[in-house]
Amino acid sequence: MTESMEQYIRSLVEKSVQGVLADGTINSSRRKLVIGNWKMNMSIEESALLFEGLRGEEQACDVAVCPPFPLLYPVKVMLAQFQDSIALGAQNMHWAEKGAHTGEVSAAMLKELDCRYVILGHSERRQAGETDEEVNLKVKQALAAGIQPVLCVGETKDEREQGRSGEVVVSQLHAGLDGVEDVSSAVVAYEPVWAIGTGLAATPEQAQDVHRTIRETLANQYGASAASGVPLLYGGSVKPDNALSLAVMDDIDGALVGGASLNAVDFKGVIDGFTRG
Ligand code: 13P
Repeated sequence: MTESMEQYIRSLVEKSVQGVLADGTINSSRRKLVIGNWKMNMSIEESALLFEGLRGEEQACDVAVCPPFPLLYPVKVMLAQFQDSIALGAQNMHWAEKGAHTGEVSAAMLKELDCRYVILGHSERRQAGETDEEVNLKVKQALAAGIQPVLCVGETKDEREQGRSGEVVVSQLHAGLDGVEDVSSAVVAYEPVWAIGTGLAATPEQAQDVHRTIRETLANQYGASAASGVPLLYGGSVKPDNALSLAVMDDIDGALVGGASLNAVDFKGVIDGFTRG
């Protein structure tokens, strides 16, 4: 990045600094985590506007944003104003350490940019051909690099209608975590495919039901104590008006948010819901 580009980014974020998202405590054993998945959206300027709108809030919730690759560095610069209270994540990475993989990005590259999280196995990538085996290699590579994988699982509409939600999710979970001995740095996101971008979120009861299955599956594999420490996020049409009702469910520890993470009003609304839940 040229110096002028960096100055431009800094000038965007230097406007009217009023405060930062602050740490706090919440009435839950697991601190809530809200991650924004920007998908293929946002520019440098739109990112700066979003963060301007997030300033000055006191939140007792962990927050992260996952911009597209070209925005990772500009957003990293912008996040300095929040003094680590908003973490950086990526939306994908390659499973290989490095090498001849044109167009791909490695875990080490993400780590160098201080990415704390990487979303893996998102249904939009699975629909584009990503297999359970590839997701599993990526999960292991992320963990080896010290990045927390956000392993996405979720059933399609047809699978739900056939009563196979639990079976599909457990199978994706087993495959994604195959060979992972220590699950303490992992995050799991339940994203029913039929709820993504449709405005038709799972009901809190539907989501809780699958989250409980995920927790039990993790407990069987890793023990109850380890399983209870893994944040389980719900994703799929999370909005300010349904955040609280999802957040109060026992096994819903946060949200993976698409559309509502792209503007400050909605993202704040979701964060508020999960802070209170
Ligand atoms: P929406 O919140 O836009 O439904 O997207 C959810 C999602 O896919 C997050 O990863």
